[in-house]
Amino acid sequence: MVENKSPIVMGCDHAALGLKEEIKALLKEKAIPVQDAGTHSLDSVDYPDYGIKVAAMVASGEFERGILICGTGLGMSMTANRFAGVRAALCTDLFSAAMSRKHNDANILVLGARVTGVGLALEIVKTWLDTPFEGGRHQLRIDKFNRLGTPAERKTP
Ligand code: RB5
Repeated sequence: MVENKSPIVMGCDHAALGLKEEIKALLKEKAIPVQDAGTHSLDSVDYPDYGIKVAAMVASGEFERGILICGTGLGMSMTANRFAGVRAALCTDLFSAAMSRKHNDANILVLGARVTGVGLALEIVKTWLDTPFEGGRHQLRIDKFNRLGTPAERKTP
């Protein structure tokens, strides 16, 4: 059961178009509004273009949560985590999906369409949407890495 109905912004590259459509159908079924930031065809594209779009919309607060998908999920994770305030979690199993919310307050779920089958990916999405952040000591830990700021602001301790 998906309780959180906050709108989700999604992005993918050509390797993940099919999985993005499957996830959109799931979110529609759950009455969760979706903004699709592309890509919209199987033509080869560069994953950072879509990772940057989605991560910027989450970093700015326009969207509370996003979902990014590429072939492995690695490129999208690397891209999204460059943004201050973005906590993107590449999940390939249900335990990590739940923990990425409980302990890390992940605000972007990343999936690898060439790694994770559709059935498992949809279960990961449901778990990730339904699991609340536990706060407390986990917030203090997030605060520690938030203090690193952006690369330009960073001072080596
Ligand atoms: C595209 O071929 C592939 O490199 C991309 O989808 C992703 O896996 C990058 O990390």
